[in-house]
Amino acid sequence: MTQDSIKIFCPATIANISCGFDVLGLALSAVGDEMVIKKVPIPGLRITKIIGLDLPKEVENNVAGVAGLAFMEASTYKGGFEIEIYKKIKAGSGIGSSAASAAGAVWGMNALLDAPFSKRELVQFAMAGEKLASGVAHADNVAPAIYGGFTLVRSTDPLDIIPIHAPKELYASIIHPHIEIKTSDSRKILKTSISLADGIKQWGNVGALVAGLFQEDYDLIGRSLVDHIVEPIRSILIPGFDEVKQEALNAGALGCGISGSGPSIFALSKGLATATRVTQAMSNVFVKMDLSYDPYVSEINTKGIQIIS
Ligand code: HSE
Repeated sequence: MTQDSIKIFCPATIANISCGFDVLGLALSAVGDEMVIKKVPIPGLRITKIIGLDLPKEVENNVAGVAGLAFMEASTYKGGFEIEIYKKIKAGSGIGSSAASAAGAVWGMNALLDAPFSKRELVQFAMAGEKLASGVAHADNVAPAIYGGFTLVRSTDPLDIIPIHAPKELYASIIHPHIEIKTSDSRKILKTSISLADGIKQWGNVGALVAGLFQEDYDLIGRSLVDHIVEPIRSILIPGFDEVKQEALNAGALGCGISGSGPSIFALSKGLATATRVTQAMSNVFVKMDLSYDPYVSEINTKGIQIIS
């Protein structure tokens, strides 16, 4: 690449997608961060600017920083990088704030070096950021941020990522109530074992959801957006969750659940008009509760991180 500096869009992501805890994710178009990545002669990695959130600039304490360090350790590049982060995705919102920064850093550095690493390798580096953020190197947000569309993380060791077809008419509604839930906290409340009966229901839904996406079978997608394991536990942390979900389904959503570790709630719908109606119906619940929120309607972002300039 002849450019020494690029500005990129780093999409927000919905992890889990109801039945696929830690394995399924999708990328959004309507919300994301921006980052400027610069190639500089002085060796090392520096975060020079963070706008929008109060986050540490020391690379060892920053998710973009640790992901970038993992990249540089594996790279033969002898120069340095500078990173500016413009956060639009709020921390602890459940739509992949840390993933956008970690994935954006390594994607941008790779682009400036003419892509020596594969997408899979970039996900591996970005997982170092997720480990810092939540204590667990899960890949279900960073994989869709880097690959775009829907992804399935079949395994993290060795890392095996399967891109999944995104049906053309599928749209996401997201509603982010203004409370913060740390992923590390919402993981601590989960049980470490599940019953065989719940396992059977859950993997039935994961397989069916993947088939529904490839076949563009919207009814099957809707039937499969069910979480028997995590949602019953985590939903108690989200005010109004049951009512928001019911209103989304009443308004015509195919399915509705917790986005990532919450508190954002997502719904998937067929067609933009339905998704817009669903977002409105979900919003009305928080208006009634006097809880402030951000609503989003988004197509599925099939490209992932992209250069803006
Ligand atoms: N799969 C992770 C979790 C995603 O639900 O804890 C966090 O965004």
